[in-house]
Amino acid sequence: MYDEFASFVKELYKNEVFIPLHAPKFLGNEKKYLNDCIDSTFVSSVGGYVNRFEKEIQNYTGASFAIATTNGTAALHVALHSIGVKIGDEVITQSLSFIATSNAISYCGAKPIFIDIDRDTYGLGAEKLEEFLKSSCEVINSTCKNKKSGKTIRACVPMHTFGHPCEIDKIKNICDKYHIALIEDAAESLGSFYKKRHTGRFGKAGIISFNGNKTITAGGGGVIITDDQILAKRLKHLTTTAKIDHPYEYEHDEIGFNYRMPNINAALVLAGLERIDEILKNKREIFLKYKEFFANRDIDLLNAPKNSVSNYWLNTIMLKNEKEKKEFLETCIKEDIMARPVWKPLHTLDIYKDCQYEDMTNTLEFYDKALNIPSGERV
Ligand SMILES: Cc1ncc(COP(=O)(O)O)c(C=O)c1O
Repeated sequence: MYDEFASFVKELYKNEVFIPLHAPKFLGNEKKYLNDCIDSTFVSSVGGYVNRFEKEIQNYTGASFAIATTNGTAALHVALHSIGVKIGDEVITQSLSFIATSNAISYCGAKPIFIDIDRDTYGLGAEKLEEFLKSSCEVINSTCKNKKSGKTIRACVPMHTFGHPCEIDKIKNICDKYHIALIEDAAESLGSFYKKRHTGRFGKAGIISFNGNKTITAGGGGVIITDDQILAKRLKHLTTTAKIDHPYEYEHDEIGFNYRMPNINAALVLAGLERIDEILKNKREIFLKYKEFFANRDIDLLNAPKNSVSNYWLNTIMLKNEKEKKEFLETCIKEDIMARPVWKPLHTLDIYKDCQYEDMTNTLEFYDKALNIPSGERV
């Protein structure tokens, strides 16, 4: 079966010598826009492409405001900072995520609390979240307090794993009930919708990444989306060093961040955005081809959860156990096919081992069995 898979993937990707997990393809106006940046000398954080990029993201996601950032990690950090996450606070998130999710919490001086994922969505489990809040927390003066640590739980950051939307409406209702701000890590889910609403649009704010491995890339880049005008204004201010508008004076009214996306990165990502429908169609076709391949081979391929449209950023298969996963992975390496296990659960890392975490049955099982397989646009 492993060899059969290797032949199948090679044929799928037209016998490329090395098949990456997810490489970008630049098939549109990228060079034209980049040349334009160079010719105009607007290569840094002021320029027409950044503003155009923000408008395009608003149009595509339906968000009222979009604030471009240097990357998704910076977007998450400043989003948490802007809603008041600070030293001594706690923030709930999932253990199955890229390190940036919990690092952004740490940059604010807060501590993550890790909750298990849901078996069917692979994102933060709504039931598990509610169980934890019901048994371990109380709301005092409109603030959620963790009875064990005595600290304030200021925010919750669910993540849409590999582009598949989690049950974000349920999570939102639970957060509202416990007075916890919802910030969505939609880094991986540009083009994914839950109940017809774009991911990242359910809480106070959501962030999307445009890293080189994402569906569309800026080289490095991110964006924060929100419907809250006051928050959007504050985010723009914070991401541009909190500088007061003035023709020549350098006056800053708080400690801000140098987090604005450069024009050159915005030019690249805009060209990608112009092809988004074509890219998503291509990725959906790859998913369907994998689906057909694995259907008769007793291997589960992750599907879009109920009520959602997924961008199928990365396709993931579930092997029987860790041993089988390693065998599969090693066959891929031998065949120059890039497959990757999922991230080590964050609560198991030394840097986060002192953080509170709850039952992790689904997270640990997912880590043992899941393997990501090549999913980039096929041309
Ligand atoms: C879940 C998740 N959160 C945050 C990030 C951070 O984004 P960036 O790499 O653009 O900083 C990424 C990806 O890179 C991610 O996959």
